[in-house]
Amino acid sequence: MMANSNPIGFFDSGIGGTSIWKEVTSLLPKERTIYLSDSKNAPYGDRPTDEIIALAIKNTEFLLEKNCKLIVVACNTATTNAITYLRNTYTVPFIGIEPAIKPAALKTKTNKIGILATKGTLNSALFEKTSSTIKQHIHIKETIGKGLVPLIEAGKIASKEMQTLLASYITPMLEENIDCLVLGCTHYPYLIPYIKKIAGNRLTIIDSGQAVAKQTKVVLTKHECISDTASNAQYHFYINSKKTVLENIVKGQDKIQITEQDF
Ligand code: DGL
Repeated sequence: MMANSNPIGFFDSGIGGTSIWKEVTSLLPKERTIYLSDSKNAPYGDRPTDEIIALAIKNTEFLLEKNCKLIVVACNTATTNAITYLRNTYTVPFIGIEPAIKPAALKTKTNKIGILATKGTLNSALFEKTSSTIKQHIHIKETIGKGLVPLIEAGKIASKEMQTLLASYITPMLEENIDCLVLGCTHYPYLIPYIKKIAGNRLTIIDSGQAVAKQTKVVLTKHECISDTASNAQYHFYINSKKTVLENIVKGQDKIQITEQDF
């Protein structure tokens, strides 16, 4: 394990994982972080597993060169397709993110839950394994959010186009009487206000951000490498496309540096 002042690494297919980064840095405000936004290769969700693993390796090696003491795979698609490979290959601890269908199954009153995620996540062996037990007593309405990630990456979160596409995914789930919606992609928390516009108060929306932050703290504590120096907190983002949308999404936070760089 590395020194306490070493950074925590994050990667995602783009800017979505910043929803996780915000939770982690709010729970652990003395940590230095390095975030990789692999926007050039987004979306991961339509790619075959071997390509997702290759991209996860590339991102991991970049973060290891920067001496990251722990890596948060801030992407459901990369976690469900690649985390087993990563854990078997590297000694650094990995924290992954998976759709929170277990908490949703405990919360539902209609016994029907919806999940909005990428094709890559919903078709993964890991998701199949987690969901199969739950499916024995809860109806899970799975919906692929095709097209949502590219719109978010293009900064069109509040667009008419987004609202129409989102309604085409949420309305059929409401018609099936779901009362909990699991957001199975780290980009989607940015859509919560727009989902609420469609669903009103009919849905409890569940994502895994806080659970990931807590787990990160548990693992750092176990390895005795939590930073206890406030001045250590600095946030470096690398993005391999234009930084404008990312800049907008993390603005208001100090100690931020964003580098446009190919990787
Ligand atoms: N943020 C990624 C996830 O959680 C987006 C996937 C994609 O790039 O398709 O799955």
